[in-house]
Amino acid sequence: MALAIMCSGGDSAGMNPSIKKFVDYAYKKGQRTYFIEKGLEGLIDNNIREATHKDVAGIMHIGGTIIRSSRSKRFFEYKYRKRAYENLKAFDIEGIIVLGGDGSFRAMQRFSSEFDINFVGIPATIDNDIYGTEYCLGVDTALNVIRDALDKIRDTASSFDRAFIVEVMGRECGYLAVVSSIISGAEICVIPEVAFEKKSLEKRLKFEIEHGRNYVIAIVSEGAKKTSEIHSWIQESLGLETRVSILGHIQRGGNPTVYDRMMAFDFTIFAVDYLLEHNNSNKVVVYNKGEFSFMEIEDIVSHTYQLPSRLLEAINYLD
Ligand code: F6P
Repeated sequence: MALAIMCSGGDSAGMNPSIKKFVDYAYKKGQRTYFIEKGLEGLIDNNIREATHKDVAGIMHIGGTIIRSSRSKRFFEYKYRKRAYENLKAFDIEGIIVLGGDGSFRAMQRFSSEFDINFVGIPATIDNDIYGTEYCLGVDTALNVIRDALDKIRDTASSFDRAFIVEVMGRECGYLAVVSSIISGAEICVIPEVAFEKKSLEKRLKFEIEHGRNYVIAIVSEGAKKTSEIHSWIQESLGLETRVSILGHIQRGGNPTVYDRMMAFDFTIFAVDYLLEHNNSNKVVVYNKGEFSFMEIEDIVSHTYQLPSRLLEAINYLD
């Protein structure tokens, strides 16, 4: 049997450890392995090649993905999906693992409803916004990058009596913002899921400033689209000189953490085993309460991820 692996959408740390495990483990199981390079764009353009152990030697500690990724507009058109299918058939590829996020799974759901493909998805996105799984590969590494940046920003904020607005990624999901607020001791967290209560915050922070607070850290999720509003609000109402720091794409990079390497190991073994035991699989490996299981792609894409209530409530306990 020939199996292939592909990364699609925003890269995340943990993709390389997963690619390595895929090649090593599938080989051990007697399978031929292929790389589909550059995601769905590469699948359309037939960027498919056989993978060897040599390709995956020494990649465990590297961020991003050695087989590259893309977001594909062309894949929305049937003629390109047909071409992608024909490419897979020409290589006799009987199973694919797709490392990606919500958008990639939507594309795969469409693809698998039209053609007889056998695939398993592995959730991989720093946004942690995929329905049905508590964890997506790359989140822990991204949080560690954010933690490192926040520790440094706090040094300068406290030394210079300043407020800092730190914008983090996450698209429409506030997961990265809430967790990084908790672990950095930020005073303010603004996410798309929760209305921002200026009045009570202003009262609390004014009181704290009167009693000696000399700096403030506010973490704002990009999806809230409130970075500049909060900048002016803090500067004007709290009277603190304020700077904005948009962390941007550094959050996608970095060496995968121990946790992401471990999760890559398990996600990948589960995915390969499932492909070997099934035909016409349209599943995603999910992780909940310490256990791995599988969900139908249909189920995943027809629901929206919701932040757990304990994280939503945590915003009220930052003081
Ligand atoms: O989905 C991952 C992510 O990094 C989001 O957090 C962010 O909004 C987006 O991708 C950035 O996309 P691009 O790399 O295309 O600028």
